[in-house]
Amino acid sequence: MCGIFGCILKRGRAAPLIHAALKRLEYRGYDSVGEATLRDQQLFIKKDAGKIDAVHAIRNLDDLPGRIGVGHTRWATHGAPLQINAHPQSGCSDPPRIAVVHNGIIENFAELKKELEDRGHRFKSKTDTETIAHLIEENLKKRQTEPSEDVYSGFRSAVAGAVDRLVGSYAVAAVCTQEPDKIVCARNESPLVLGIADDAYYFASDIPAFLPLTNKVVYVENGELVTLSKKGFEITKLVDGSTVVRTPKLVDWTPRMAEKQGYPHFMLKEIHEQPRCLRDTLRLQEKYLELLTTFLDRAREVIMVACGTSYHACLAASYMFSKLSFLATHPVIASEFTEQHGKSVNIDSTILAVSQSGETADTLAAVETARQRAATILGLTNGVGSTLTRVSRVYIGQQSGPEIGVAATKTFTSQLSVLSQLAIRLGKKRGKISQEEIDLLDEKIEEIPDIVEKIVETQSKKVQSLAKKHRSKECFFFLGRGISYATALEGRLKLMEIAYMPSIAFPAGESKHGPISLVEPGFPVIFVCPPDETRRTLIGNIMEMKARGASVIAVCEEGDDEIMQLADDYIEITKGIPEVLSPIPYVVPLQLFAYHMALERGCDPDMPRNLAKSVTVK
Ligand code: AGP
Ligand code: GLU
Repeated sequence: MCGIFGCILKRGRAAPLIHAALKRLEYRGYDSVGEATLRDQQLFIKKDAGKIDAVHAIRNLDDLPGRIGVGHTRWATHGAPLQINAHPQSGCSDPPRIAVVHNGIIENFAELKKELEDRGHRFKSKTDTETIAHLIEENLKKRQTEPSEDVYSGFRSAVAGAVDRLVGSYAVAAVCTQEPDKIVCARNESPLVLGIADDAYYFASDIPAFLPLTNKVVYVENGELVTLSKKGFEITKLVDGSTVVRTPKLVDWTPRMAEKQGYPHFMLKEIHEQPRCLRDTLRLQEKYLELLTTFLDRAREVIMVACGTSYHACLAASYMFSKLSFLATHPVIASEFTEQHGKSVNIDSTILAVSQSGETADTLAAVETARQRAATILGLTNGVGSTLTRVSRVYIGQQSGPEIGVAATKTFTSQLSVLSQLAIRLGKKRGKISQEEIDLLDEKIEEIPDIVEKIVETQSKKVQSLAKKHRSKECFFFLGRGISYATALEGRLKLMEIAYMPSIAFPAGESKHGPISLVEPGFPVIFVCPPDETRRTLIGNIMEMKARGASVIAVCEEGDDEIMQLADDYIEITKGIPEVLSPIPYVVPLQLFAYHMALERGCDPDMPRNLAKSVTVK
């Protein structure tokens, strides 16, 4: 996710305000930054790759003339973090007459780009966003060349016409030299808010951007177009141009609270962001999914390397690739890779490195060992422009946006969504799964974001009460079978790392081989039990624990009466989730459990002791 901001002032210069606002939005993305201001029908643009302070030191983001302008702090999804891909993006004209800033993902940008190139448009960047600028430019051109009643009457309608062609998520804002007194914005899924002051009007991705300037906020809804001018703001519906009347609300947040959008912690905000992030993973660029699938299909052996939560994603993925694609993969903890596989890796080896940050030293070291032995390196990361993207033959960005909380939450479920899409494609390519299975999986993967949204909305209170009930326990078991073992491992890691609660996760079938000796009356055991092929034997494991007085918490399918009656407590997950997709929704209650347990035990969920967000040392 990126941060966008813009303003129209009655007096003073826009640039310093834009710069300061982008700094307050930096948590939304920080690989590139740019601004565009307007004066005397001329556009002034400054932009570059790098963090805001670094770019400001070189280019002085305060030094642009004009009372109106837009700005952007980027978290790249399409096009590496280079100056050419930084926003604002413009059309063909030189000097530029249009400037566009955008947060979101335009799914159909490739076909729109082709259509515009066929009409003579020349693209400069690799971004999806640039397509929007050329669409607006094309519409403005039509106004001159094909005057008729339905042609775009002005800049606002040219933007409306452009946005009407877009498929995907966007909070987009545009300015143009032909009508230099207005800013036109539109929203679909990506957040957009207006700030209303006596002497200025603002738009932004998020309230922190303008909170020090005004606490009078107007929320823009999906499918709405906003025109900002010195006279005020006008909201219309894109579908029919009808006017929307919306009165400003007063917000009483502190700036820090506003960065968390009112959530008490980034971790909770990011748990709640998962539905949107999961929707964004369903908008991955086709060509990269296809390319990775092809490399995996040709691979003689696939070793997945990762650490921590990303390793758990690899473990789950190994089940997905095995069951859907009949591809044997070897998930390996990155710090163990060299000793375990170093010598066996060769030109026939394919390494799939998974790393949210793309900077984890252990993972990069494993990749370097493999590279030196001529292996093919594939990457899955959230950090476009990270080291992992530079050392990978092919990589895919999971598009989760910055994750501020130290604990991986939204990035984990996004990784699983990407990996499951790869497994489905590979299974299809290899003819290992029927069209009926593919259709079901495609349908269910589309439903996952809503399912996760429902869990977060309906199960949080119950999870919170479970955390309160068990806050003084000294140890937890997390048990699962098959792919749910990966889910159990992730739940254990969350509880350990942010609530400092000793926790053990192991395959449920292993209990009787030792760990069960720890169990005494009241000992909490969390079972991850989707209704898959392991359910029957898992019920046996639950009985084993019950027989020793354990306090059983089951994360099971809604309506699974047999398990719900056996468990002391249960969390219900929506029916009908395919086994291979189950870790995505089933992990969410475990994330919430860890979060609430941290609060119960007086820990800071966002900044757990001894930990860093990205472990860049071996
Ligand atoms: C997970 O909550 C932890 N923050 C940690 O285990 C993390 O997953 C691990 O350090 C790997 O990080 P990466 O995905 O950025 O490589
Ligand atoms: N898709 C746009 C880009 O890659 C915006 C990215 C975002 O919103 O994170 O520049």
